[in-house]
Amino acid sequence: QRTRATEPAIPAVPPVTGGAPRHLVSIDDVSIEEMHALFAQADRFAASPRTFADTCPGFISASLFYEPSTRTRLSFESAMLRLGGGVLTAAEMTSSSVVKGESLADTIRVVGGGYADVIVLRHPSEGAARLAAEFAPVPVINAGDGSLEHPTQTLCDLYNLHVERGRIEGLDVVLAGDLKYSRTVHSFAFALARFGANIVCVPQPGFELPEYLVERLHEEFGVEPIRADARRLGDLAANSDAVYLTPQKPHQLSLFTDARGWEVQQVDAVYMTRPQTERYSGNEMSATQYLRLEKRAMAAESLRDAVVMHPLPRRDEISADVDADPRSIYFKQAARGVPIRMAILGWLLGRIDLGVERPAPM
Ligand code: CP
Repeated sequence: QRTRATEPAIPAVPPVTGGAPRHLVSIDDVSIEEMHALFAQADRFAASPRTFADTCPGFISASLFYEPSTRTRLSFESAMLRLGGGVLTAAEMTSSSVVKGESLADTIRVVGGGYADVIVLRHPSEGAARLAAEFAPVPVINAGDGSLEHPTQTLCDLYNLHVERGRIEGLDVVLAGDLKYSRTVHSFAFALARFGANIVCVPQPGFELPEYLVERLHEEFGVEPIRADARRLGDLAANSDAVYLTPQKPHQLSLFTDARGWEVQQVDAVYMTRPQTERYSGNEMSATQYLRLEKRAMAAESLRDAVVMHPLPRRDEISADVDADPRSIYFKQAARGVPIRMAILGWLLGRIDLGVERPAPM
């Protein structure tokens, strides 16, 4: 009796079943329950990152980056490799057929049409990820679209609060710096509001939270704008306007415009951002004028128990002598980008069941 020399290998991985792919374009695409489940999954990955290579074998992610990146692209690729999958990288889209005039839609159709099982897209145009999702037969993950959103950075930031503070609900979080163009701040503000955290905005003067965003916070979360006199948050807000959002009931938003006499509360986290100079037109501001968190500001009573966060890259807005402070977590924050993105990839590829019912489309 003849026997076959080799049996075809039957993959342990079930085929991806039909149905519309689940995209991650906005932080609004993830429910609070799903976020908690992703954090729990990321905890497992973080505890033992080298033991999950059987999660996504045979799956391929494509990194399509029309803008520079270090953390987002490399942490996504590290995450996919740790899950046992493979990666296609187009880190420099000027070497792709984009220069021949190919549209984003066509690029997405091609890459999603058999080359890759998930697309991680960074693009300078606001709404690019949403457009890509309309044409993609596979999940699209927004890795930053213009100054609009950066939802996986927000999941990373929230995960850091989850790890460092054990909760997000009710925390007092300072958002500082360029709140106008920072997409990480925009996604983060919505998520914090949904969790019922309090948001203290300390913008670089002239770079306040965009009005459309404040209006959305008002319409969707009942945050009432209260424009009040200026307040000061330690040294951080000197000469700066501040927006104070309390999305807990009663919802409240205050714009502070005078730096005198604010007895601030203790805050739980300070989230610093760099000037997004690549989005500035002309001489909107020179980086030397920018808000700066220095060691002496860390002595402020309001920051006594605060963790210092930054999505990075950093320029001069956090001085190097703050790095050694145990409250500075920005490098840990970047490292935690890998386990949370492992959770995101496994989930969107259908390889991890979060045990949460998919919310009905809005
Ligand atoms: N935080 C962040 O998006 O960093 P990169 O631009 O290096 O990806």
